[in-house]
Amino acid sequence: MKKNIKILAIETSCDETAASVIGVENDRPVILSNIVNSQIELHTKTGGVVPEVASRAHMENIIPVITEALIQASNKLQVTSYKDSNDSKLGTSNYSEAIKVLQNDITHIAVTNGPGLIGSLLVGFNAAKGIAYSLDKPIIPVNHIEGHIYSAFAESDKEIEFPLISLTVSGGHTSLTLMKNHGEYETIGQTLDDAAGEAFDKVAKLLELGYPGGPVISKLASKFRSRKGKLEDREGIVFPRPILNNGTFNFSFSGLKTAVLHYVLGIKKEREITEDDKEEICAAFEDAVVDVLVTKTMRAVERFEPKAVVLAGGVAANTRLRSELVYRIQITDNSIKFLPAPKNLCGDNAAMIGLAAYYHIQKKNISTWKDIEINSNLEIGSST
Ligand code: KG4
Ligand code: ZN
Repeated sequence: MKKNIKILAIETSCDETAASVIGVENDRPVILSNIVNSQIELHTKTGGVVPEVASRAHMENIIPVITEALIQASNKLQVTSYKDSNDSKLGTSNYSEAIKVLQNDITHIAVTNGPGLIGSLLVGFNAAKGIAYSLDKPIIPVNHIEGHIYSAFAESDKEIEFPLISLTVSGGHTSLTLMKNHGEYETIGQTLDDAAGEAFDKVAKLLELGYPGGPVISKLASKFRSRKGKLEDREGIVFPRPILNNGTFNFSFSGLKTAVLHYVLGIKKEREITEDDKEEICAAFEDAVVDVLVTKTMRAVERFEPKAVVLAGGVAANTRLRSELVYRIQITDNSIKFLPAPKNLCGDNAAMIGLAAYYHIQKKNISTWKDIEINSNLEIGSST
């Protein structure tokens, strides 16, 4: 009898150690478990990810995280965050039970093979390769950006319509991708320097707001907007919109970060920076990033006339970005579907890798442990 597809997916490209099991119901992939062990606390101390520290933490966590994903899948539980469930359980799971699930139920292994930090990628990649080798299971290498795009299809029970445009925005990437079918990608724009999330993180660092920067900047920005009415009669800060009108779909955020730095230094020359200053700077910075991202995405929509627009990656959790993009799509052509990734799947996770792998399996795009490769600069649409 042909076994039902059950994919064990592994993702360790940056600072989350993640494993997930994807099953199939009514011919659609479903998430049976989704475990994410975040290293945020480790990296808060340094205000960003230190690659060596990240890979060592992956080494410690990879087996317990995979084990937990297998156990939860076998119990048909759905938990989205290891931290939220119970951190103290890490390491005390039932390994022999997990190995049984691996041997008897899992039909395919999926793993991120790039892009990302090489020391981080290697941990998940070699774990996946070792499992595929020892149990003689097929393996599917998945591009990390491709995974982010597929996170947007997680809750959709409809057929995915092509072509679509994806704006993928995270701490490591900012790209506009034209997707003509499953597995067919064309990168039409990307960042020339910092990624959007990186800009959020760097601005938060210079305002001494901690890491990661996105959520805290967004919170302060909305605080400012709610008290803005009283400040109506004075000029607000307007930061530059880098390369907005250069005729390409590319992005650049490092000049924006420098503009924020100069503004902060200007205040500090005269006086202490206040909480009110910080809130206003956050709002003006967020406005600039969102304006550039949304304007370029809408230009791509006009040019390529997609049936859907996907918004994915860590920065896709940003409320202002989500609401601005959906508004602009609706007033342009309300037949275009807006597919934002569910908020719990915006950050790095392994469910998105398993979801992408499911479609590779449908296309018989399957490898063995002998012929998969890793590439820290892997481009979407290329296999190595
Ligand atoms: O996708 P992700 O978890 O990791 C990478 O692949 O990089 O994205 C993390 C990034 C961080 O830079 C973080 O500051 C940003 O996503 N981020 C946000 C928000 N939540 C997370 N940026 C803006 N607004 C948010 N609400
Ligand atoms: Zn990511």
